[in-house]
Amino acid sequence: MDKFFYITTPIYYPSAKPHMGHAYSSILADFFARFKRIQGYKVFFLTGTDEHGQKIQKAAKENGMDPKDFCDKISKTFFDLSKTLNLSNDDFIRTTELRHKKSVETLWNILEKKKEIYLSKYSGWYSISDEAFYSDDEIEDKDNKKISKISGSQVDWVEEESFFFKLSKWQKPLLKYYEENPNFILPESRKNEVVSFVKSGLNDLSISRKSFTWGIKVPSNKDHVIYVWLDALTNYLSALNYPDTSNIHYKSYWPASLHLIGKDILRFHAVYWPAFLLAANIEPPKRVYGHGWILSGEEKMSKSRGNILDPIEIIQNYGLDPLRYYLIKEVSFGNDGNISKDKLESCINSDLANNYGNLCQRVISFIEKNLKLNVPENYNFIAQDTKILKIYEDEFNKLVDSIDSQNINYYVNFVQNQLFVANKYFNDQEPWKKKGDKDRLNTILYVSLELIRKISIMLYPIMPNSTLKALKIFNITENIIDFNSIKNHEYLKINEKINKISILFKKIEKND
Ligand code: MSP
Repeated sequence: MDKFFYITTPIYYPSAKPHMGHAYSSILADFFARFKRIQGYKVFFLTGTDEHGQKIQKAAKENGMDPKDFCDKISKTFFDLSKTLNLSNDDFIRTTELRHKKSVETLWNILEKKKEIYLSKYSGWYSISDEAFYSDDEIEDKDNKKISKISGSQVDWVEEESFFFKLSKWQKPLLKYYEENPNFILPESRKNEVVSFVKSGLNDLSISRKSFTWGIKVPSNKDHVIYVWLDALTNYLSALNYPDTSNIHYKSYWPASLHLIGKDILRFHAVYWPAFLLAANIEPPKRVYGHGWILSGEEKMSKSRGNILDPIEIIQNYGLDPLRYYLIKEVSFGNDGNISKDKLESCINSDLANNYGNLCQRVISFIEKNLKLNVPENYNFIAQDTKILKIYEDEFNKLVDSIDSQNINYYVNFVQNQLFVANKYFNDQEPWKKKGDKDRLNTILYVSLELIRKISIMLYPIMPNSTLKALKIFNITENIIDFNSIKNHEYLKINEKINKISILFKKIEKND
């Protein structure tokens, strides 16, 4: 039986070019997608751009462009970034596509038919930057402006006719849903925030706007455009050919396994989205995970704050895989984290150049000199060999569980420790002193190769390019990487040859 995994990133606003925060969401999602693939799942990985609404219309106007032309231009920079980041996404959706429009209109019609929508008047606060409505108690004064306490963004008073979704009615079913699906929202701390927000009572939600035109029109009333969040969230269905729910794609992948998002957009994904779906009688996604922010100093990165870190610039200077490794390893997943050139350089030098790259080089050069690159034969594991090989067998289920519960920190710590252990093994065993004891020499080299193989496979979802270079040692190509094979300790066959590889990571000269 095939096993399916559907993972999504948020779809990004093409209001300005992408920054490190966007790269972060995408790289993490790619990590999960790649892991599940090598674990044997059929994976569908979706990313894209969220192109409607007042925020985009405003940005287009500021740039003197027609909104669609503007979206075409900026969306392309996100598409290009997906290539630069080596994302393995299967689709890139744009909400200005026809397939998406059809899907949103259908969902709207269903909600209307089920009497979940009514026409009334909205008067309240709205933040264009967040595309969000805020209640009075979520607003404060700052520098003679009204801002949202939650996001710090400026809000304006809006009064206009609007369609409403009967969100209040879904308070109890949502709470029941959270209770019956305790892992629907992760991490736990964020789940608690959402649950207390819902417990405090839900107001009906304004889901259409009348004062601008850039969006999908309400099918039954063309004076209104559909609220951009209802529009955007539906992308997760559009990419599976919704409303055609009988197609194999939809049947295999819905409900989504994991919506990976930033903590700032949790309310939309963990409250509004499941409420819309429950109201339309569609199963909600299995999990929403709200990750932390990449901070620039102490602040969230944003165009309005002018503190943007450019991922392209970092990649040009340091390479892609070091950035991917840094974001996955150095930022404790679920929490906020920081990136600085200094920390990135230390990480490249110690973890990547010294621990990983150097281990591969030392072992291969030694085998080249002493065994002419032949797979060591007559190996015979003794207790100290079995002990370090068996860790992978013993830890295997825990490692898989750690990924399935998005406990990346556990997984990454494990690999990092094992890199240390592998280096220590090679040093302590001193193969250069064992040239007189061929069998022992062969065994040490066999074990060292096995450790490189296991570690490279484990690092593959983090650093696909570099690990694929390393896996050339064993003629392992991307399509045959199998995570389950790290339990096996006798992968290499005697009479075969291993391959030499080029240097994986260059050390950075630091001035201090
Ligand atoms: N368009 C909406 C999402 C719609 S999903 C149906 C949106 N777009 S966004 O471009 O503003 O942000 C997209 C994602 O990037 C969010 O998950 C957000 O949390 C993430 N990041 C934006 N800045 C960030 C950091 N500085 N750090 C980490 N991620 C942050 O919201």
